[in-house]
Amino acid sequence: MGGTIDRVGVVGLGQMGAGIAEVFARSGLAVVGIEPTEDALDRGRGHLQRSTDRAVQRNRLSAEDQQAMLDRITFTTSMADAKDCGLVIEAVPEILDLKRAIFGELDRVCDQATILATNTSSLSVTQIAVATGRQSRVVGMHFFNPAPVMKLVEVVRTVVTDPDVVSDVVALAGRLGKTTVSITDRAGFVANALLFGYLNRAVTLHESGYVSRDDLDAAMDLGAGYPMGALALLDLIGLDTSYEILETLYARSRDRLHAPAPMLGHMVTAGLLGRKSGRGFYSYEAPGSGVVVADQGASSTSSRTTPDLEAAHDVRRVAVVGSGRRADALVATFAAAYDVRRLSEHDLDQWGRDPLPAALAELQSCDLVVDVGDDTLIAAQGRFGTFDGLAPHAVLATASRTHPVTECGAATSTGRPASVVGLHVHPAVRRGRLVEIVRGVDTSDATVATARGVARRLSAHVLVCGDRAGQVVHALLVPLLNDAVRMVEEGYASADDVDAAMRLGCGFPRGPIEMIDELGLDAVLGVQRALHRERGEPGLAPALMLERLVTAGRLGGRWGRGIRERPAG
Ligand code: CAA
Repeated sequence: MGGTIDRVGVVGLGQMGAGIAEVFARSGLAVVGIEPTEDALDRGRGHLQRSTDRAVQRNRLSAEDQQAMLDRITFTTSMADAKDCGLVIEAVPEILDLKRAIFGELDRVCDQATILATNTSSLSVTQIAVATGRQSRVVGMHFFNPAPVMKLVEVVRTVVTDPDVVSDVVALAGRLGKTTVSITDRAGFVANALLFGYLNRAVTLHESGYVSRDDLDAAMDLGAGYPMGALALLDLIGLDTSYEILETLYARSRDRLHAPAPMLGHMVTAGLLGRKSGRGFYSYEAPGSGVVVADQGASSTSSRTTPDLEAAHDVRRVAVVGSGRRADALVATFAAAYDVRRLSEHDLDQWGRDPLPAALAELQSCDLVVDVGDDTLIAAQGRFGTFDGLAPHAVLATASRTHPVTECGAATSTGRPASVVGLHVHPAVRRGRLVEIVRGVDTSDATVATARGVARRLSAHVLVCGDRAGQVVHALLVPLLNDAVRMVEEGYASADDVDAAMRLGCGFPRGPIEMIDELGLDAVLGVQRALHRERGEPGLAPALMLERLVTAGRLGGRWGRGIRERPAG
């Protein structure tokens, strides 16, 4: 029947509803747009007009097609006008009683054959369906914001949804040019369940003062390759909507990591709802606009500044210590700007020999040593003990994502911990490169200034943060990856569906499972363990499946076998 639905109703023409109406109308379907009042209808019309004007300005849509498209939409305050629609989708705020009342009304006025769909982000489709006398024809059809752009629709079935209804909705979504992931009724489905834990952690990290708004968003853009930073994304989704989604997730999971960060609640109370109200974490030209303007002053935006002291040393020669793939990448990156030496962990075992082997003698003339060696703490401390013997001005950097900088500093002699810093050079992405500089308890300003100078020479965006596991990028990214593994482990969604949901629904450059395979399962597990140890949150415990796979030597696609590959035979 998906092929035969040619008239659809959309109840609620807010940001999402208007976007959904646009998607249907663009695909040639007749749309009945419903709001309870004329004022609300006018706002809905305004959303549609602005969104399609923009497409015309960008030459994506001709003025005639825009008019034809808008003509396909009938605006009404009467639910009864949806009577003969093949499908009616509801996109009103995330309030269960409101949705149930609408479904009761739709059930009364619509033909028996009409499919009733909800765009709910996190509420139970089953609880909504039971407000009707046609539970088998009720389904979740979850679009992503901006609906005209994001390619994913999650199709959610309850235990009583008729399989033919699911097939019809999947077929309809296909006609709209969307890819579907078909799942059962669980809080947050696939994408929101993974995304909102991450967004909430981001607000918590920002609220704690650990990272500024701009640094946090740059970190996720440049360090993780996400299409937008977490705080900018919250503004796009709407802080009120995000708060409601988190409350629902928390009520169902009882995982404290889903309890909305207090800052989110305060911002909602103050009317800072994001783009829709003209101000959220960022300030916008006007309500509904995505154009960022200078701040009006409430949320803290500025970077934690570290004075750029003249005491910064000029770095000419760099040594990279380590034998793995990360060391290879670092050597290649530094080679573009510096004279680089490469040593393995074993080379350091020769320290103290007389005469000193040539590689070690050269180490003594390096101004910066970056350690990316074997990632056990004991081994790292051993190496930092060795670095003690280097030139007094040399900066000693650790690239470990799991060991505190302070622990590495403590392995050096008195006076030397001031020279120890964390240095995380991320691969360059389309929009640039990120370097995270981590300040240990004893790291001196001069050391940080030297590290900043190095990052600048690599043309990187610099982020200076405190000594915590995973710093900013991995502290936010890795728990999302861990949650994704847990979702696959629980059998809620396949690895392919999880990856498709995050790529197509949230614009991630790679799905979480693909990303784990790329980073290495053991590396991801190491960071997750460190975060769990440091924060003590039960929700941060590593997924059992991740532990087991690493134990079995499944370290990721590029090391032979990753999460997807089945055992041979
Ligand atoms: N409405 C309509 N179209 C929009 C739009 C909007 N709000 N924002 C951007 N676009 C269109 C633009 O017109 C442009 O289209 P063309 O290429 O045809 O000209 C295209 O999207 C790209 O836009 P830009 O070049 O301006 O910006 P961009 O390249 O930075 O992309 C983005 C913007 C698509 C929003 C991108 O940043 C992105 O993918 N962000 C992630 C969004 C995301 O995660 N969404 C899911 C949120 S969770 C959710 O929605 C579920 C829920 O239940 C709350």
